[in-house]
Amino acid sequence: MDFFPIFLDVKNRTSLVVGGGDVAARKVTLLLKAQGKIHVVSPTLCADLQASLDKGLITHTAREFQSTDLDDAYLVIAATNDPAVNRQVSEQARDRHLPVNVVDQPELCTFITPSIIDRSPVVAAISTGGASPVLARIIRSRLETLIPAGYGRLAELANRFRDRVKARFQDPKDRRLFWEKILQSGVAERVFSGHIEEAYISMQRALDSTEPGDGMGEVYLVGGGPGDPDLLTFRALRLMQQADVVVYDRLVAAPVLEMTRRDAERIYVGKERDHHAMRQEEINQLLVDLAKKGKRVVRLKGGDPFIFGRGGEEIDTLSAEGVPFQVVPAITAASGCAAYSGIPLTHRDYAQSVTFVTGHLKDGSINLNWGQLAQPHQTVVFYMGLVGLPVIIEKLIEHGVSPEMPIALIQQGTTEKQKVFTGTLASIQAIVEREQPKPPTLIIVGEVVQLQEKLSWYKTPEVPRRGATSPIGPTAD
Ligand SMILES: C[S@@+](CC[C@H](N)C(=O)[O-])C[C@H]1O[C@@H](n2cnc3c(N)ncnc32)[C@H](O)[C@@H]1O
Repeated sequence: MDFFPIFLDVKNRTSLVVGGGDVAARKVTLLLKAQGKIHVVSPTLCADLQASLDKGLITHTAREFQSTDLDDAYLVIAATNDPAVNRQVSEQARDRHLPVNVVDQPELCTFITPSIIDRSPVVAAISTGGASPVLARIIRSRLETLIPAGYGRLAELANRFRDRVKARFQDPKDRRLFWEKILQSGVAERVFSGHIEEAYISMQRALDSTEPGDGMGEVYLVGGGPGDPDLLTFRALRLMQQADVVVYDRLVAAPVLEMTRRDAERIYVGKERDHHAMRQEEINQLLVDLAKKGKRVVRLKGGDPFIFGRGGEEIDTLSAEGVPFQVVPAITAASGCAAYSGIPLTHRDYAQSVTFVTGHLKDGSINLNWGQLAQPHQTVVFYMGLVGLPVIIEKLIEHGVSPEMPIALIQQGTTEKQKVFTGTLASIQAIVEREQPKPPTLIIVGEVVQLQEKLSWYKTPEVPRRGATSPIGPTAD
């Protein structure tokens, strides 16, 4: 290692910043986060530093650097645009054994400032030893996605229980094991999802019992998005990689399912048209039973769990049974398919509103407010509408929509098998008969569809990777 990593306590100690420009201002911002006292020496100040001075956050001497400026300094940062001044500050600080950093001149530094991920009190620092600050920033942005924003709150909880845990487990090895389990358990997830009080209760229960954990598992109702695994949220991914059991249905795309923990038990509960591997009530009960056995269960659904996903029914049962749960939203098929096919769902010139409806055919009809859906200047998105397409077309035209109204069918949107078929209400059925689109398919009706030709950007590869995109299980719409 070229540098020894340490974290300095600068609270109530004076950091001297020489320079009054934007670079100096960035360093000042960081020092302020660490509650340091900051004195800036510079003939002039940039707007940000002037604002900090006006708010009383920093002090300022308006002149060039002098050696006496170092008298009260605890650490020194030189950030002027004059190399001679920077060198002078560095030499004099080193003569006095003061830690000094000269921005972008590692050879003049006795310390460097890392790229940081701030989840205070948790702070992760990344340094390339001055070799490539950009690389440090790239690494940081990768880590940012892995470290939940709630880690700070989790550290606070751990701190509050520190003495109690110490008293409960005298042997440091037992203590470490306890913390290792608890910090990756449902307690942590309760903190991340904002259930701080429940987290404290669970933590106390875990401390009171002989085993870490409170015996009760939990259920994460996770939206898996429309198919492209890149569209998963950070939280979805984290929970998918933690869960002991994954309960999934047909709509979940194979690459999304692949993102779950390798050794997790996977339970397929079907849900294809007219063929359910498991009835909804049985799924609800399964989730309750698994959680009561102490399992962390991801209930993985295609798209967003609260949009035509029966998510409400599933958590209703969990709530009635006292099983802790959280819901992770996701990109719904309408947003995913629209974006990946280049059809903006609203547009100032064409559509001022968008409506999501189910086109599910029941007893040969679709029970919708057709008069409202036929109004102009809107986009209507039909989920589950492929089988009922002839009824949809007939009803819209019957209620006054022009047969020339543009319509798009998006097959397996956002996946490598995505196909987009466009036409008009009058022409689309012939296209469907010819092309035989495969489910899942989403239907978009509205003037916005005409933008597709111009705005289309997503290209599916010529040869799809094997198994990469097909939905799980047999398909039907
Ligand atoms: C039971 S709904 C579930 C919707 C899901 N919860 C969501 O938010 O996207 C199933 C319907 O969503 C639509 N759908 C879901 N994923 C799709 C995809 N990748 N491409 C096209 N349509 C999709 C189809 O209309 C399908 O019949």
